[in-house]
Amino acid sequence: MRGDDQLHESKNHTKAFYADVVEGLSKSQKTLPCRWLYDQQGSELFEQITDLPEYYPTRTEISIFQNHLPDMAKAVGTSAHVMEFGAGAGTKTRLLLDALNQPKSYVAIDISADFLASSMARLATDYPSVEVIPVVADFMNADGLSTTALPPGNRLAFFPGSTIGNLLDSEIETFLGAVRSTLGLTGKFLIGFDLVKSEDILVPAYDDAAGVTAAFNLNLLSRINRELDGGFDLDCFSHEARWNEHDGRIEMHLVSTKNQTVAVNGDRFDFRMNETIHTENSRKFRLDGFAELAARAGWSIKQTWTDEKGYFAVSLME
Ligand code: AVJ
Repeated sequence: MRGDDQLHESKNHTKAFYADVVEGLSKSQKTLPCRWLYDQQGSELFEQITDLPEYYPTRTEISIFQNHLPDMAKAVGTSAHVMEFGAGAGTKTRLLLDALNQPKSYVAIDISADFLASSMARLATDYPSVEVIPVVADFMNADGLSTTALPPGNRLAFFPGSTIGNLLDSEIETFLGAVRSTLGLTGKFLIGFDLVKSEDILVPAYDDAAGVTAAFNLNLLSRINRELDGGFDLDCFSHEARWNEHDGRIEMHLVSTKNQTVAVNGDRFDFRMNETIHTENSRKFRLDGFAELAARAGWSIKQTWTDEKGYFAVSLME
């Protein structure tokens, strides 16, 4: 990428971030889109979260793959063209590619061009018989998906990590529908999603004793300070993880610990004591509820694998 393109990209990026901050902090329930949690610092903190004793999803999903990938691979069939949303290229991608029978290509769609390039280069070296195709696009929006070329044949979409849980139900339907149009009628979809369980397990997974998730959430305010000339005092906000029973989701909030006014790039935002900024949803599904959502987008579940505690599920859909 040329230097001035990069500058251009980062300028657009800052503009979009600023627009989201102004819009989100002007609402009566203040909110910020969760994608802004993942800058360099945020991504590193998220990596640390996946190792926390309280954060069960990552290790549970990996154990499901380790126990059932031979079954999954058999159901997928030979010569698959794999398309992953988000450049995993990490543990789960490698486990899948190792288990599949002669995978032909691996398409990774990610919004971060730099991250995509480096992880795809490593993957291409380690899997010389797989054609590795990076696509820079926002897979969460349907337009980003429709421009994505996938070779014809045995197509498999792969979406681990319960990232689907960041979306609202209406957005899930749109996303699953877009994947279905991209893959065509014979496409298959291997997707991981987190399950409803006791609040005593859910809440600590998003509010750990070591405070890593709190740092991850508060980093959003630091990022506004760094990139948008924000004046947030991090000592005057605290992290909260809330189980919203009605909507079946964990919500992350940043709670203002006093009445205060914060300036961002000259705009002023008032916070009442205990007022919150809603920063993330992490949906927890029931198996039947997930099947119903998938069906609305034309997918039917062929097989589902879970761990012995029933904490997490991986489904193969057609
Ligand atoms: C990356 C969206 C799957 O919801 O569990 C972890 C993000 N947020 N701890 C999740 C997250 C706080 C994570 N996902």
